[in-house]
Amino acid sequence: MVLQVDKTRVELLSSKDAAEIESLFKEVWPTAIEYPEKWRKKRTLSREEIVKEMKGDYYYFGVRVDGRIVGLYKASIKKDTVLGEHQTIHPSYQGRGLATTMYKQLINFAKKKKCKKIHVNILPNQIASKKCVDKLGFHKKGGLWEQAKEMLVQTYEKEV
Ligand SMILES: CC(C)(COP(=O)(O)OP(=O)(O)OC[C@H]1O[C@@H](n2cnc3c(N)ncnc32)[C@H](O)[C@@H]1OP(=O)(O)O)[C@@H](O)C(=O)NCCC(=O)NCCS
Repeated sequence: MVLQVDKTRVELLSSKDAAEIESLFKEVWPTAIEYPEKWRKKRTLSREEIVKEMKGDYYYFGVRVDGRIVGLYKASIKKDTVLGEHQTIHPSYQGRGLATTMYKQLINFAKKKKCKKIHVNILPNQIASKKCVDKLGFHKKGGLWEQAKEMLVQTYEKEV
C-alpha cells in the first residue's frame, strides 16, 4: 500500500493508545542499533510509563494508517521552548516522509503554543533525522554533549 503522505494527519494521541504505542516502541527501539543498548531499553517504554508521561508534561503525536499507529513522537514545553523527541516510525513505513511530516507538525505545534524555539537532540550519524533538521531550517546549538553514557548528541534549534 502506498502511503499518501500529503494527506497524512498527525493527531494527538491519548492514554487509550498506550498499548499500541508500547507495541510500536517494542518493534522499533530494540533494533535501533546506532543507539547504546541502555538507551534503546529506556526508549522502549511500557504502557504504564507512557500513560504516566501523558498525564505529566508530554504530548504524544502520531500518524495512523488504516487505523493503526505507524509513527509517533512526543513534545514537551519548558518556558518558551518546545522539545521534540522519541520519534519512532514503524520499519515498514520508514523512508516515506513520515518523520518529515511530523517535524512540520512540531513546528506548527510550537507556533500554536506561542513558543519561541524548538529543540531536538540528534545522534550525529542518524542520517534521516539530520536531513529533517537541515531541510527545515534548524541550526546547531552548542556542541556535542552526552545525553546518556557514551551517547553523544547534537542539539538543534529552530526559532519559530
Ligand atoms: C529516524 C526516523 C524517525 C526517520 O523517519 P522516516 O519517516 O523514515 O524519515 P523520512 O522518510 O521523513 O526521511 C527524512 C529524510 O531522510 C532520508 N532517509 C530516510 N531513511 C534513511 C536512511 N535509512 N538512510 C538515509 N537516508 C534516509 C529520506 O529519504 C529523507 O530525505 P530527504 O529529506 O532528502 O527527502 C526513523 O527511521 C526511525 O524511527 N528510526 C528509529 C528510531 C530513531 O532513530 N528515531 C530518531 C529519534 S531522534
